[in-house]
Amino acid sequence: MKTQLISPEHVKDAAALIKKGGLVVFPTETVYGLGASAFNPTACAKIFSAKGRPSDNPLIVHISSETQLAAVAAPLSPQARALAQAFWPGPLSLIVPKNPNLPEIVTAGLPTVAVRWPRSPGALAFLQACGVAVAAPSANVSGAPSPTTFEMAKSAMLGRVEGILVGDDCEEGLESTIVGFVDGQPKIFRPGSITADDLARVLGCPVGNLTYLPPPEGRPVSPGTKYSHYKPAAEVRLFRSRDELASMDVEGHRVGLLVVGPAPGHPDWDVVAFGDWKEFGRRLYSTFFDLDRVGCTLILAQLPESEGLGSAIANRLNKAASS
Ligand code: TXA
Ligand code: MG
Repeated sequence: MKTQLISPEHVKDAAALIKKGGLVVFPTETVYGLGASAFNPTACAKIFSAKGRPSDNPLIVHISSETQLAAVAAPLSPQARALAQAFWPGPLSLIVPKNPNLPEIVTAGLPTVAVRWPRSPGALAFLQACGVAVAAPSANVSGAPSPTTFEMAKSAMLGRVEGILVGDDCEEGLESTIVGFVDGQPKIFRPGSITADDLARVLGCPVGNLTYLPPPEGRPVSPGTKYSHYKPAAEVRLFRSRDELASMDVEGHRVGLLVVGPAPGHPDWDVVAFGDWKEFGRRLYSTFFDLDRVGCTLILAQLPESEGLGSAIANRLNKAASS
């Protein structure tokens, strides 16, 4: 398939492809998304084949108006409304009861829909030009790290989609925080840059993480959480302390290293030292991409404490490192 690379001045051309039932990759503040009209089931089906995504893994629906919200979801509960008011537009996806008119394929048959109103100017211009809600997972091939630069998006999706909208590097670099409600209680289904404390401040109650629904369902809450994710081609191993790093057996590997703070002296390694965890999160996937490209076979990555933004980074690193 011929893929058009579309500059932001021609965002209307990207929207025209969506309206015709095509797939368009577009930038957001979190990661690049792979979009189709949420009300075109045939176009949405193409998302799953372009990504190699299992069909039981539902899509996030991107909106840019209250009218579009009402078209995809039932009226929000007071708690969901409070979160929307506090964090939209922004990197928060809310799992709420779906509007019956939204095609089943978008939600993989679930009665709920994940909705997000992104804030990056590139995403908003695109969504406004589309004039329809856009279903979009991250624009990676299933299992790989999400694209956070135009270069990565092009490398993942060239030849698989009708268009790629040119954009800047993503400001957050990690996928949105996903919040859902279980028995009326807010829960984090996927941690992101909006933290448990940020959510608790708005809701006035603590917000915990949720990985599994209680029995009798006993199934993963977010279908996507059961699949392997975020993996570069290189093997990923994690460490907490510099002592732990020093004791790792790296024999025979071309090594890449991701740390926060001063870089340890390893002349033969590709060392990437970040100023803080915020920068680590923002550049994590693009650094994986760069280290793969230079031929690293082993990536050693420092694991943060699992709190605040650290829990989002640790979540992605643990999946990237899992076998
Ligand atoms: O930042 C983001 O969220 C990016 C950008 C493009 O918006 N999108 C993204 O989409 O990360 P994706 O498809 O890679 O991850 C969506 C996750 C999946 O784990 C999926 O299972 C979960 O959201 N999800 C979607 N709808 C759901 C629902 N109704 N109930 C539970 N989980 C849902
Ligand atoms: Mg994804």
